[in-house]
Amino acid sequence: MSKCQDDTGQRAKCMSVFENDDPAKRAAGYAAVDRYVRDGMCVGLGTGTTAYWAIERVGARIAAGERISAIPTSSDSEALCRKLAIPLATLLERPMPVAIDGADEVAPDWSLTKGGGGALFREKAVALACERYVVVVTEPKLVAALGRFPLPIEIVPFAAPYVRREIARRFGNVDVVRRGSGLQPFVTDNGNWIFDAHFGRIDDPPALDTALREIHGVVATGLFYNLADEVIVGEASGTTRSLTVMPRTSRSR
Ligand code: 5RP
Repeated sequence: MSKCQDDTGQRAKCMSVFENDDPAKRAAGYAAVDRYVRDGMCVGLGTGTTAYWAIERVGARIAAGERISAIPTSSDSEALCRKLAIPLATLLERPMPVAIDGADEVAPDWSLTKGGGGALFREKAVALACERYVVVVTEPKLVAALGRFPLPIEIVPFAAPYVRREIARRFGNVDVVRRGSGLQPFVTDNGNWIFDAHFGRIDDPPALDTALREIHGVVATGLFYNLADEVIVGEASGTTRSLTVMPRTSRSR
């Protein structure tokens, strides 16, 4: 099935839903580009309805004559970049001073849940490779702890039954839903599947991420920690605020 047909309660983040006109999301996306993207830069551009506005802003800057190039984090974002005539680059082909992406949840320590659009693997690759990782969200994404949003886990399809069994064996009663529509699985840009796992409150994202990645067949999880350099929160008024407390002392990249 196409990523645009996801009907499991996870929002599909394909370009067709990007006729969104949420002033808070737009403000966050625009602010990130205006603050950090300079003429001549190569930027990482995320996936989703908030990152959409960052891509759109970069497109406008290119239309105005700037020479910005981009590394998109999904085929959907790549399609939008192409539509906006944004030149594309590959990972680490050039220095990447900044990457801008959305998130499904942001905890007080700036750990994130990502992958609502199924692009978590490439999103994490770009987050790890860039020099500054800027997260653009709206107020409802700020949570006391991760876990209300089911955790996206990218898995190799062949190993799906094993991964499901091991999650049950190692973590107990966790509701695990294969993303997709009926018998049709959602297929990621890497040819894999997504499990959405309901762990409940996640107090130690690094420990859970490490434990999950020990299961053969797990490619990546949507837990991002020690990565965000700035969190820009868009508000309904069209203004933004940045979370000011930098909670971490070292990056994992
Ligand atoms: C896609 C993502 C998105 O960044 C996340 O789902 C947030 O999307 P939106 O800004 O549309 O709420 O991780 O895989």
